[in-house]
Amino acid sequence: MRCTPVALAVLFTAAFNAYSQNQLFIPDTLSGTSISMTMDEGTHSFFPGYTTNTMGVNGDLLGPTLLLNKWDSITLNVTNALATDSTTMHWHGMHVSPVNDGGPHNIILPNSTWSPSFKVRDRAGVYWYHPHLHMRTNEHVSKGVAGMIIVRDAEEAALALPRDYGVNDIPVILQTKAFDSSREILVHSNSDSVAMVNGTVDAYYGVGAELIRLRLLNGSSQRAFNIGLSTNANFHIISSDGGLLEAPVALNRLIIAPGERYEILVDLSSHENDTVQLMSYASELPNGIYGATNPGMGQMMTMNGYNPNVLNGANFQLLEFHVGAASSNAITAVPSTLVAHSPWQTTFADANRTLTFTPQAMGMNQLNGAFLINGVSFSMSTINYSIPFGNIEVWQLSNNSAIAHPFHIHDVQFYLLERGGFLPPVQERGRKDVVLVRPMETVKFITRFETFHNDTLPYMYHCHLLTHEDDGMMGQFVVNSSTVGLDQWNSGDPLELYPNPTQGAFTLNAPAPLTLINIYSPTGELVHTDTPNQESVELDLELPTGVYLLEWMTETGQGIERIVIE
Ligand code: C2O
Ligand code: CU
Ligand code: CU
Repeated sequence: MRCTPVALAVLFTAAFNAYSQNQLFIPDTLSGTSISMTMDEGTHSFFPGYTTNTMGVNGDLLGPTLLLNKWDSITLNVTNALATDSTTMHWHGMHVSPVNDGGPHNIILPNSTWSPSFKVRDRAGVYWYHPHLHMRTNEHVSKGVAGMIIVRDAEEAALALPRDYGVNDIPVILQTKAFDSSREILVHSNSDSVAMVNGTVDAYYGVGAELIRLRLLNGSSQRAFNIGLSTNANFHIISSDGGLLEAPVALNRLIIAPGERYEILVDLSSHENDTVQLMSYASELPNGIYGATNPGMGQMMTMNGYNPNVLNGANFQLLEFHVGAASSNAITAVPSTLVAHSPWQTTFADANRTLTFTPQAMGMNQLNGAFLINGVSFSMSTINYSIPFGNIEVWQLSNNSAIAHPFHIHDVQFYLLERGGFLPPVQERGRKDVVLVRPMETVKFITRFETFHNDTLPYMYHCHLLTHEDDGMMGQFVVNSSTVGLDQWNSGDPLELYPNPTQGAFTLNAPAPLTLINIYSPTGELVHTDTPNQESVELDLELPTGVYLLEWMTETGQGIERIVIE
């Protein structure tokens, strides 16, 4: 069995060709502490006999996978070799300062190089890069510029997981694209009828009869996928956007919205000499999600060009595994636990914010217009929020429109507190930077704005449907240094405390000699006290993970800071 009948039907119509299969393209990797990336125009053959104009990084389509190690200090030299276009390059999901973030303000002019330099502070997981020029993101991404970032760390390395890139640890960049009759890529189109993985249409890949790790990234402009296996077997979800979960979650379906990442383990040990398909069971997607039968809440709501489209509401194949013999060092068991999490506690929240999504024009035709956040459209010169550095905040996202919006925020990872009034499903209880907010649904998350502040250069938050983002469903915030979190407790100049989160070792720099330091456990117990009489203090404490409070005093000021021990 090579293809299910449903998948075949889609391939004939969607891929404009017979069902000859193409070997999955595995992007090259780049690692080290100095990485060069050149974004340029190119051409690619998606369909036999046709050449399509594309854009790529260090190649004609997509870009290399960056392999980064946590705590490495890296420099990325990003050259814009596009003939006439400016662009930017954003490190989606990574915790970097605004100058290094690659948002719409970090413009790279044609024939110039931008060289952000930063320390990798993220947990092991899947992140990604893509351009982020205001009103042009969809164009640059649709034409091909996107790539995967894999961060590695000691915690992940200690687990018995598949990590042989391209062998049992496979990058899976899920995208759909729209093509015109001469097979050129259509941008800002709802006629995205061609599914591809790593740019490969109708892809197959040879793997061993063992546990394989798929690093799923939804890099589509709009489409959500409902991931499942043709065997209907469960797979194990081991990570969300910002790294490993506490424990694997066994499911046979997983919705992945644009911008989201999940890593899953698929057990192929009983399928030697067989084929297994990675599918999107979009027939089961609830209406109101782009990719379902109806993109809005009801049948009356239509979207220009959305129908007919063979992928909408249909079950279709993404990738077919040709399963051979297991490798000699195959991983066969799913670990029972992964990593610890210590989410911020709502009792420590400094601020609550509500963001409401509405269509610009109400009514049946709303899906064809722009969407607003709190009634306003994005402006490069408006700062929508000024957030005190160090703040722990609860954001409530309320979707008062008929279509689901994958909300994304830069700078931070967050923990979902609630989805539709309930605890989020287990696979959404890890660190995330994108959350799909369904029609008429309310979602709450908690996060902390730490490590970086800049009074003028903002970070973005936006819908990751690139059509919506480009049409203004975006806002920006600065993390300002003039106030620190818990400001009611603080007086005098703020204290510098880093790294935070930490594993126990950190440095304090105060404006004047510290006359007192008290550290309280998450339950309020005094666990450390000191009268250092120095401005700079280095501490290395063996403490269980959790959120601690540090109380400090100098001759001229005093305050309370949170320390996250992880
Ligand atoms: Cu993936 Cu602001 O972007
Ligand atoms: Cu981002
Ligand atoms: Cu949206």
